[in-house]
Amino acid sequence: MTNGYVFREYIGAQFTGVQFSDVPVNAGVSFHFILAFAIDYLASQSSPPTPTNGVFSPFWDTDNLSAAAMSATKAAHPNLSIMVALGGDTVQNTGVNATFAPSSVDSWVANAVSSLSVMINQYGLDGVDVDYEHFGADVDTFVECIGRLLTQLKAIFPNIATSIAPFERPEIQEYYQALWSKYSNVIDYVNFQFYGYGANTNVDYYVKFYNDQQANYPGAKVLASFKTGDVTGLLSPEQGISAAMELQRQDKLPGLFIFSADSSKLESYGFEYETRAQVIIANH
Ligand SMILES: *[C@@H]1O[C@H](CO)[C@@H](O)[C@H](O)[C@H]1NC(C)=O
Ligand SMILES: *[C@@H]1O[C@H](CO)[C@@H](O)[C@H](O)[C@H]1NC(C)=O
Ligand SMILES: *[C@@H]1O[C@H](CO)[C@@H](O)[C@H](O)[C@H]1NC(C)=O
Repeated sequence: MTNGYVFREYIGAQFTGVQFSDVPVNAGVSFHFILAFAIDYLASQSSPPTPTNGVFSPFWDTDNLSAAAMSATKAAHPNLSIMVALGGDTVQNTGVNATFAPSSVDSWVANAVSSLSVMINQYGLDGVDVDYEHFGADVDTFVECIGRLLTQLKAIFPNIATSIAPFERPEIQEYYQALWSKYSNVIDYVNFQFYGYGANTNVDYYVKFYNDQQANYPGAKVLASFKTGDVTGLLSPEQGISAAMELQRQDKLPGLFIFSADSSKLESYGFEYETRAQVIIANH
């Protein structure tokens, strides 16, 4: 049996050829891969991608991270689930912002519910993570679109896990805190991007930042996090591991996530931090 604590890792945004089977999985944790990303944009060979008002398509590395690869990795690991993250920073290497840009609440929600229901069924997905970082609509529109989307998806797929992925910037927090205050009942985790903090984030600072975010998202399961790959000027994986151990010691840690498997694949340390992070979670 797993202990109810989660380890999550984003995968598929950077096209480094990473496969699910590259990533070590500790049988004692609930393991969630988060596909990065599905976006409501239309890709084109000839012109920049254009927004589609809630009609989501896969923009992760679907060659390496296919439906067949998903069923194989789930068959190999009984406590492994696969989520999809919505939005992200830019549309797949084009430099175009993945902007939240609905025409209206009703039309966006209808398109998002139907396109994501198809995607969930096609790939056997277990959840949705909301990761918009650029906004072409006001806070109320975002709150209603995402709140109604998650409510309707949970009605159709009662077992899916949902999360939101804010980071420390006032204009970002405004959107996500408003969403949390109205729709926390349909949000299971807050994947807070602690790797947005600087290289001076020692354990004491990290714990303070964690407590701040717990206060910003009252009652949430706030997951700690760190980033692999290029962390110049930012929180390092070692700092992330040390902070997670301290949060665990204080009995505050519902789980931990890493961005990203793609980056870890390219590093000389390989998947060392995935292994160490899961040991922390498994020993809860
Ligand atoms: C995975 O989870 C199932 C159901 O919770 C449990 O019965 C099983 O022991 C777990 N497997 C491992 C390897 O921990
Ligand atoms: C996986 O990705 C690599 C690098 O992008 C690519 O060359 C390879 O063809 C992909 N493998 C599969 C099975 O699609
Ligand atoms: C992308 O979004 C950022 C802020 O989130 C903004 O500064 C930048 O100008 C945007 N880029 C484009 C091309 O719109």
